[in-house]
Amino acid sequence: MKNGDQTILEMRNVSVNFPVKGGLPFIKKGVIQAVSDVSLTIKRGETFGIVGESGCGKTTLANAMIGMVKPTSGEVYFNGENLYQLRRDAFKKIRRDMQMIFQDPFSSLNPRFNVYQIISEPMFIRGQDDEETMVQRVIELLELVGLSKDDLTRYPSDFSGGQRQRLGIARSIILNPDFLVCDEPVSALDVSVHAQILNLLTKIQKQMKLSYVFISHNLAVVKNVCDSMIVMYLGKVMESGNSETVFKNPLHPYTHALLEAVLDTSIKEDREQVILKGDIPSPINPPKGCRFWQRCPRAMEGCKTIPPENIEVESDHFVACHDVNGFPEGNFEEGYKKPLKSFDDDLSEHGKAHQ
Ligand SMILES: Nc1ncnc2c1ncn2[C@@H]1O[C@H](COP(=O)(O)OP(=O)(O)OP(=O)(O)O)[C@@H](O)[C@H]1O
Ligand SMILES: [Mg+2]
Repeated sequence: MKNGDQTILEMRNVSVNFPVKGGLPFIKKGVIQAVSDVSLTIKRGETFGIVGESGCGKTTLANAMIGMVKPTSGEVYFNGENLYQLRRDAFKKIRRDMQMIFQDPFSSLNPRFNVYQIISEPMFIRGQDDEETMVQRVIELLELVGLSKDDLTRYPSDFSGGQRQRLGIARSIILNPDFLVCDEPVSALDVSVHAQILNLLTKIQKQMKLSYVFISHNLAVVKNVCDSMIVMYLGKVMESGNSETVFKNPLHPYTHALLEAVLDTSIKEDREQVILKGDIPSPINPPKGCRFWQRCPRAMEGCKTIPPENIEVESDHFVACHDVNGFPEGNFEEGYKKPLKSFDDDLSEHGKAHQ
């Protein structure tokens, strides 16, 4: 442990915008609001889940956590240090404590490097160790991840997807990090190896006392592995807190919809049936009010324009939804509590507005 503090990472009001590139004169340039005003705290040793549909900003948020994408606004504190205000040397040092396992073990390993070169590369770049120490360390890690020293001189193409992910895991932990982001670590793999890789990650976490950020679009996996979680939609946190509490009492209509999408009936129970209509809207022009209103079965007039606050509804359980929390005090246009009768009508109106 670096310090006695329980918190390993904190984000305060982090937003990440990307400029829209492209030179077509008749298309207005804008910004992609990939992550909008996200605050969260990750405790040392826990597994923190980020869940949401493709394109909702999970990877961008994780990249902002580990110094890979500078937030447009807001702060990230790692072990109490303001990450993006550190001097270059201190930043490089702290970056070694934060590593990432990638979604696709096929493209994330250099096909021209052998296993030894792939796994030892972070150590090689750091430049503090002799060859013998590096070979010993790589063998130790190969055994930890269920491979052997006979694999040292083989190439990524000789391995199956699950084995390649094991190589990626060995590489990510070679510098003894404190904090590991697992970005959809099993989604590119055959279902038959999911449990093995998840078990391996759990074993490594216990052995090395790591804190994990676990990204997934599958709530069933998050339920099994995460202590805390956030549910993201279009760059915003919709619901968050202790995972057990959130799964016992999911409140946001979007969380309900994600639960519906999970095949595992054991966590579906008797939740209200919610079918998501339409695609996730563009993060270039996200809705002004609640970002989910266009697809929400419980949306009201006011949801279109009044942004919901993230409110603690019970201990360590936060929800950003007007239907759950009620609207805040304010002078809103008459009829703001009126339910939106037909989504399809509203969707087509919204679509027209953007044409
Ligand atoms: N470097 C970039 N430049 C421009 N836009 C980007 C960049 N990285 C991400 N985006 C955009 O930001 C939004 C969020 O992307 P992100 O990759 O974080 O989503 P995600 O939740 O990880 O999706 P997936 O589940 O598909 O991995 C998307 O609209 C994406 O197109
Ligand atoms: Mg991603």
